[in-house]
Amino acid sequence: MTRIVKIETTPFAGQKPGTSGLRKKVKTFREPHYLENFVQSIFNAVENMEGATLILGGDGRYYNRDAVQIILRMAAANGVARVVVGQGGLLSTPAASCLIRKQKAKGGIILSASHNPGGPDEDFGIKYNSDNGGPAPEVITNAIYAESQSIREYRTLDTADIELSEIAELSLGGMAVEIVDPVKEYRKLMKRLFNFKKIKKLFKSGFRLRFDAMHAITGPYAQDILERKLGAPKGTVINAEPLEDFGGHHPDPNPVHARALFDVMFAPGAPDMGAASDGDGDRNIVLGRGIYVAPSDSLAVLAANAHLAPGYENGLAGVARSMPTSCAVDRVAAEVGMPCFETPTGWKFFGNLLDAGKATLCGEESAGTGSDHVREKDGLWAVLLWLNILAERQESIQEIMHAHWRTYGRNFYSRHDYEAVDSAAAEALMTALRAKLVTLPGQSVEGETVASADDFTYTDPVDGSVSNNQGVRILFESGARVVFRLSGTGTDGATLRVYLERYVADPEEFETETQVALERIIGAADQIAGIFQHTGRKEPDVIS
Ligand code: G1P
Ligand code: ZN
Repeated sequence: MTRIVKIETTPFAGQKPGTSGLRKKVKTFREPHYLENFVQSIFNAVENMEGATLILGGDGRYYNRDAVQIILRMAAANGVARVVVGQGGLLSTPAASCLIRKQKAKGGIILSASHNPGGPDEDFGIKYNSDNGGPAPEVITNAIYAESQSIREYRTLDTADIELSEIAELSLGGMAVEIVDPVKEYRKLMKRLFNFKKIKKLFKSGFRLRFDAMHAITGPYAQDILERKLGAPKGTVINAEPLEDFGGHHPDPNPVHARALFDVMFAPGAPDMGAASDGDGDRNIVLGRGIYVAPSDSLAVLAANAHLAPGYENGLAGVARSMPTSCAVDRVAAEVGMPCFETPTGWKFFGNLLDAGKATLCGEESAGTGSDHVREKDGLWAVLLWLNILAERQESIQEIMHAHWRTYGRNFYSRHDYEAVDSAAAEALMTALRAKLVTLPGQSVEGETVASADDFTYTDPVDGSVSNNQGVRILFESGARVVFRLSGTGTDGATLRVYLERYVADPEEFETETQVALERIIGAADQIAGIFQHTGRKEPDVIS
């Protein structure tokens, strides 16, 4: 039954070495042998796949269903013993991570392009996660990439599609296929971490939450846990039905794409809490009535209060944040006396710290927070931790934020994105910036004096590996900071990200509008990097 398909010239453009997954337009994935090339490269590059157990599922975007069938046939033809697949081919990214760990699987294949739009003309993605449940480390992704450039054949079966709509145990060419409830194991894990009783009581007391699932994968998870298990009123979860094109929207929980939620939360009669997650369920945002909790602040508040949830009642071993994430969490760590790690952008850098027990909580400014319960960031988990904290503290989100700033001061923070910039222009900007780093200290720009400037290098404290060129950071004497880096996930030209931060200790200033509070730093950033000269852009496309 096994068929070996010869590929004469490889059509595979390849994922960039170092990134944990491959993200392209659906059209590209549909080119003959394209997806198959990547999948076979995984089977070739990862040792001991024969006889192994794999987890498989995706965020349900367009092409998910076809891809699952292709991967199942190829897994069987490559001698995989057992594949555990989410019903309907669905699994959120954190749930896939949870299943890999729970099943002690060899690894997992996750189908998603995260918060990118879906549909026949939009994006699809695939990535391989290792046995710890996290994105494969660079040695593996580099090996997959190398394979993809040289393979000349792949293995598959000549069989029809299998039915994935019911929970069942099937066999495909001698390989066991277990179709499981995508929510079950994840729900069990959440139940262990959080005080469901207390949260139930909170909802019973009339607490109102609006959770926008953005027609993406978290819908079924949020409905199951929030509405059915925790007793939140029906309709708490909106846009709950996962759609192949996410209803035509970007399933990206930021102030632009989740506008409707922001509007509700800032209007009269707003519920107590608003939340949203992204395409594959690993990102989250949280809002209170009339207040948006910046993800960097959310990480800090969660770090300061996590001990209120049963899963973290013994405190945290440490925290970690990506370098461009604001330093708000550092202040909490200093107060508690726990270590705070600064890593390059991308969740995979947290994996070693979590595995080694050096950090318990971690997060990024890009709406990602998580803990050592899985090895991916986890959107619904963050919402549940917030709910647990709210249930314990019996204060509003606004009160909690203000109390936090009064204790630690406020790190005003914003990210400005310049999207679809000409790639050469963006590279030229970064090159010019790097060239003048040594001359910057001491210079005064827009009334801010540069204290230090460098291109971030990370040395992993666990395995000693070194990652260079992870973003240019400029520290001012006032304690303000600006960071420049190019996105590694965009699919259209280059995206320049400018991260702006200013620390304020005076409560009188806490109410200032964020962009106003950051005005001087914004001006300094533009002058230092010459954003307009290089890109021709006067304004960022997205401000978050
Ligand atoms: C973006 C975010 C980063 C996140 C990644 C994957 O990467 O900035 O924090 O880990 O998506 O979700 P970027 O496009 O900036 O490389
Ligand atoms: Zn995501």
